[in-house]
Amino acid sequence: MKAEDIDFYNLGFEFIETETMYVVDYKEGTWSEGKLVPFGSFEISPGACILNYGQGIFEGMKALKTKDGEIVLFRPGENAKRLNESAERMLIPSYDEETFIEAVKQVVKANKQYVPPADSGGALYIRPIIIGNGPILGVAPAKEYKLIIFTVPVGPYFPEGFKGIDLEISLKYTRAAPGGTGYAKTCCNYAGTMKPAKETKEKGFAQIIYLDAVHKRYIDEVGTANFFAVIDGKLATPKLTGTILPGITRKSVLELASRELGMDIEERDISYEEVFEDRCTEAFCTGTAAVITPIASITLNEKKRVFNNREPGEITVKLYDLLTGIQRLEKEDKYGWVVKVE
Ligand code: PLP
Ligand code: COI
Repeated sequence: MKAEDIDFYNLGFEFIETETMYVVDYKEGTWSEGKLVPFGSFEISPGACILNYGQGIFEGMKALKTKDGEIVLFRPGENAKRLNESAERMLIPSYDEETFIEAVKQVVKANKQYVPPADSGGALYIRPIIIGNGPILGVAPAKEYKLIIFTVPVGPYFPEGFKGIDLEISLKYTRAAPGGTGYAKTCCNYAGTMKPAKETKEKGFAQIIYLDAVHKRYIDEVGTANFFAVIDGKLATPKLTGTILPGITRKSVLELASRELGMDIEERDISYEEVFEDRCTEAFCTGTAAVITPIASITLNEKKRVFNNREPGEITVKLYDLLTGIQRLEKEDKYGWVVKVE
């Protein structure tokens, strides 16, 4: 779609084609030179490992425009690192982290007309993927891979935006088990969450809160975002045990709560019972797409907890202002998280 035909002020989180993508191939044990090419389809063997056995990983990042019109990225080095951690779990060859960041900058620059204006609140979402595109029959890693980075202009992930979402705790479905692939950003983790998400949406909820697969008692995450709660005045989030995605927003929010708000932070097991108790005063979820989304209510069967009359809580608002302020350079970037594209 041509940039001039896009209404940047009314974007959702939907696929829109932009002009240019970045492509690199891995053959005979090495990654080739990456290049910018027009966005478009490519041929793939029906025997490709990604098509048969789901050997693929991805990342999610955003390029934001500041008030001064600069285009910036948020902690891209963290995405480069996580891409390789996911690659390691899926037996995908690693990709040089500096080259990755340079590639992201190049593809954003090539699509800069698609970066929404600062006052729209939108972003140019960056989606790097690596797929095993070489053919294989037995279950084994592909011999050939393709890394593609494409971009899509987006608005808020949850249409409710900062108003708060209604979530349902699932006792029926789990997302990841110990020893599995929960911590990796692999395509397979998401395919299995579509049916639970569809079912909960039909009941009026925005998403599911997944519990741990062993006890079905401790909160893991929200399917596309990490979970946080303010309990006894402390900021608590599920600890990283290998079943949840180590979110970059999660990591940043923990640092901001501790260093900027002086809060006690806890990475620990959070039982679902706790969120129904009065000592749990706020809840929200975090992610690149979700940013910081307040949780208005949590439901489990007949039990429902509404937070703060559905208004975003005080800590949630403070953290949102801090994070988004730093991300758009409206607040001082003390920690050196923001990287300019040009
Ligand atoms: N959990 C899952 C399953 C996700 O898909 C995401 C999004 O990337 C997150 C958490 C949040 O991670 P991040 O803050 O790095 O975007
Ligand atoms: C992100 O927040 O970047 C994600 O990848 C979440 C979702 C769109 C899969």
